[in-house]
Amino acid sequence: MKTMTTMPSLIFHKPVQSKYLFLVLALNILFSLTLTHGYSLKDCTVKGSLNSTNLKVLCYKRQLQAVPDSIPSRSRALDISYNKISLIKRNDLRDLSNLQHLNISKNMIVEVEDGAFRGLAALEELNLEFNKLKTISDGLFQNLFNLTFLRLNENRISEISSSAFLPLRSLVMLNLSGNHLHSIHKAQPAFLMPNIQELHIGKNGFASFESLQVSNTSIQLKALDLSHNPLQLFRITADIFPHLETLDLALINTSIKWEVQNKDYFRNVNRLNISGIQLATEETKELLRTFNSTLDNLRLYYFGEEKAKSLVKDACLITSLTSLRLESNGINSISENELKHCKNLILLDLAENHLTNISPLTFKSMGKLNTLSLTHNKLKKVPKAIRNLSSLKVLDLGYNSITTVACSDLTNLTGLITLHIYRNPLSSVEHCAFQDLQNLKVLLIGSARLFTLKGYFMRGLQSLQRLDTSHNKLSTIQKGIFKGLLNLTHLEFQDNQIQILEEGAFEGLDNLIILDLQSNKLTKSSISASIFSGLPNLKELVLNNNRISYTSQSSLSVPPFKNLNSLHSLIIFSQGTDGMKYFPSNLLEGLANLKKLWAGNININSLHPETFTYTPNLWLVDFSKNNLISISADIFQPLKKLSALTMIQTGIQSLDFVIQANINEVQVLLVRKNSIAVINENLINAFSKLSHLDLQGNEFSCDCDNAWFIDWAVHNNDTQVLSLDKFTCNYPSNLRGSRLLDLDRDSCIVNVGLLCFISTTFFILLTLLSSFLYHFLKWQIVYTYYLFLAFLYDKKQQHNQNETVQRFQYDAFISYNTHDELWVMKELLPKLEGEQGWRLCLHHRDFQPGKPIVDNIVEGIYSSRKTICVISRHYLESEWCSREIQVASFRLFDEKKDILILVFLEDIQPQHLSPYYRMRSLIKKRTYLSWPKPGIDTQVFWQKLRAALEITGSSKN
Ligand SMILES: *[C@@H]1O[C@H](CO)[C@@H](O)[C@H](O)[C@H]1NC(C)=O
Ligand SMILES: *[C@@H]1O[C@H](CO)[C@@H](O)[C@H](O)[C@H]1NC(C)=O
Ligand SMILES: *[C@@H]1O[C@H](CO)[C@@H](O)[C@H](O)[C@H]1NC(C)=O
Ligand SMILES: *[C@@H]1O[C@H](CO)[C@@H](O)[C@H](O)[C@H]1NC(C)=O
Repeated sequence: MKTMTTMPSLIFHKPVQSKYLFLVLALNILFSLTLTHGYSLKDCTVKGSLNSTNLKVLCYKRQLQAVPDSIPSRSRALDISYNKISLIKRNDLRDLSNLQHLNISKNMIVEVEDGAFRGLAALEELNLEFNKLKTISDGLFQNLFNLTFLRLNENRISEISSSAFLPLRSLVMLNLSGNHLHSIHKAQPAFLMPNIQELHIGKNGFASFESLQVSNTSIQLKALDLSHNPLQLFRITADIFPHLETLDLALINTSIKWEVQNKDYFRNVNRLNISGIQLATEETKELLRTFNSTLDNLRLYYFGEEKAKSLVKDACLITSLTSLRLESNGINSISENELKHCKNLILLDLAENHLTNISPLTFKSMGKLNTLSLTHNKLKKVPKAIRNLSSLKVLDLGYNSITTVACSDLTNLTGLITLHIYRNPLSSVEHCAFQDLQNLKVLLIGSARLFTLKGYFMRGLQSLQRLDTSHNKLSTIQKGIFKGLLNLTHLEFQDNQIQILEEGAFEGLDNLIILDLQSNKLTKSSISASIFSGLPNLKELVLNNNRISYTSQSSLSVPPFKNLNSLHSLIIFSQGTDGMKYFPSNLLEGLANLKKLWAGNININSLHPETFTYTPNLWLVDFSKNNLISISADIFQPLKKLSALTMIQTGIQSLDFVIQANINEVQVLLVRKNSIAVINENLINAFSKLSHLDLQGNEFSCDCDNAWFIDWAVHNNDTQVLSLDKFTCNYPSNLRGSRLLDLDRDSCIVNVGLLCFISTTFFILLTLLSSFLYHFLKWQIVYTYYLFLAFLYDKKQQHNQNETVQRFQYDAFISYNTHDELWVMKELLPKLEGEQGWRLCLHHRDFQPGKPIVDNIVEGIYSSRKTICVISRHYLESEWCSREIQVASFRLFDEKKDILILVFLEDIQPQHLSPYYRMRSLIKKRTYLSWPKPGIDTQVFWQKLRAALEITGSSKN
């Protein structure tokens, strides 16, 4: 196939070539148009390559009403959660014999047809939670011998067939909570699976639990969840749970009768949750005694202050208890007397209470206390009770009303590793507050009211690794304030008011890896090179949502990041309301190891060709939401390692610049929401490693130019074209809005045999003829060809214009080269449109996307009264002799009509014009305008231009 396709490309010109290629391909795939074997799935995204052992197919949140078809049979994971599927049909999943993980949760499934899962022999995890299943029938789980985890919670299941779970020999975890089983008897099949270890049957309306209803011999179960059931009776009369370790009896909201004949039945239970259980205090204590000797982890939530405190005393008598959680009990105060037996606790959780008062000696006896949570309470001060707790490693004081941290508050907490004071109205911290925290690694003091950090970290904290001071009111980072923090690796300042980084602000942070300064008020002068010196290990610098902006693209005398040699990621998207405006040519100087750059939404419209010469290691670049219509290839040329390019919503009309830049390592190309009309074969061939192509929301041209692309997108096995089925046409206008995939590609195919015959004959004749003609009559032929085209076009236009009353849409069409775009935008446009009120036609702005560029330009010329050519050397080299100008030449060069206005942007000697002989003759005969040299007044120029625009038969209207 290769030889067949390359040969004709030598002779056919472009559209023919792509049609021909399509033809060859079409033969190979037998005109199949369905999405059956390819990689680009309707409604789904694929992660991993098609032949990898880790292929994941993600189809969640797509409003699907049925299981998507054509899921690759090698898929290991399929996620179709959060959709509107109500029925799983017998054959929906039939080919997925490699599937290990299937998530169908949060749909509206009422029915799964028998045997629907029969082909999923490798399935290990099945998630059906939050659906509307009513019954579990016999055949539902047939063949799922390897299933390990099954979630059926939050359905409407009221019946389970007695043999439904029989095939589930490997099942370890089953969740049936939140169903309508009502009688424990109906859940019996769940207890009898040979390998079941964890069973959730909470919230099922069970009125009783009796061991006899379940089994009379011992079972494997390790964890049993019976929470949220209105149990009136809990009766264990046989030793059926010898392995049980975790028992959840939370929120049993009826008064329960507790009958466990032998304490020994729960001899291995070590985790117990009886939160909010409706039992009198004495009976609850009796219940607790059932678990004496093994229990180490106990939850007592939702009892109210009095009962909770009363239970705590008894709970702490259980000598094995090490973890006690007392959340949401409305506790106002606590004292040493109430916790006096709790000597063995390692973890104490008092979160979500109303604590205002903790008496000083409360935790004194807890010599092993390691983790203490006091978060979400009403403490106004750091409680004295925590002082001297040298065993404490984790202390959470977040979400309280603490206003200051004094020097004595954290005395002798020498073992502390993590301290959260997040979300307190903290306005000051004394200088020596952290002095004893020699081992602290993580300090979170965000969302407070700190105006400064000066002096807070003077003493202690030599082990600190992460400091989070986000959401405060800092405006200046003073010199040397982090000097002692030799081990700091993460420093976070997001969402403060920082405007000034003093020289030396980050002094001493030799080991800093991440510096997050997002959402502050930094300007270009805040981020000088010297600020970022002395950070030899910094890998990630986060500067998005600040106010950094520049007034020109020219190089900075001292580029700000030049000392950040180790930096891997620079994040500078979204600067202020006006954006960064310009991207200085050497902004990235010094970042020799930069790998990722996020620079979206900074309101720039060009990049200097030198921009990336400093960053040869970049592999991810994001310039989304900038206006980069006229970006040129040379900018990307230095990026030989680029593998992900993101240019969403940048106005680009073609991807040719990526081909020319020769960046062929690209694997991910995200160019959503642009104005790309055609994807041709050259582009795809330029990216041999492309795995993700996102082209959603472009303005496709639905003609044969895209036939090759469609076919490739549907059938290739290496590149995933995201949401291919959602691409719509923008051109021609009669197809606008219809699906690109629906393009009638048959019309792009001509009879094969005949075409081969004709093309071969034609080829031979053409070769002979063209070599002859080329030799003798080269220029005449080219010229005649264009003249002929121009003649045809002029006739056509005149004909059109005779039919409709002649009224020009524009006053002038502006023809210019992209290199001169700045002049056009900054000088010409404001003057002529803004001040003088002419209507101009600019191709970037006024062209109909999706329409071929030649048609656009020629139509622009014919629907404008005048054409202004902005002439520079670049213009002469590329634009002047272009096909577009040639095709419109009948109108432009007609001596009788005064249509053409020439504006010279630079001095061009007449001898340099000689190759453009038409230009030379025009200049001889006509007046032309020259843009004044810098420093000379432009007034006269604009007057002359106005006069030139006014001269005409028809008047301006
Ligand atoms: C997948 O196949 C391609 C060629 O078809 C091969 O280069 C690549 O190494 C394969 N990947 C895996 C993970 O097998
Ligand atoms: C089931 O699991 C076993 C053990 O992990 C494995 O050897 C076997 O291949 C699996 N069966 C299927 C059909 O994948
Ligand atoms: C638990 O047992 C220990 C001795 O094994 C005993 O001292 C303690 O009082 C018992 N606790 C309860 C709550 O019965
Ligand atoms: C800190 O601990 C040391 C040694 O255990 C002790 O001598 C000192 O009094 C304690 N400091 C305070 C302020 O309690």
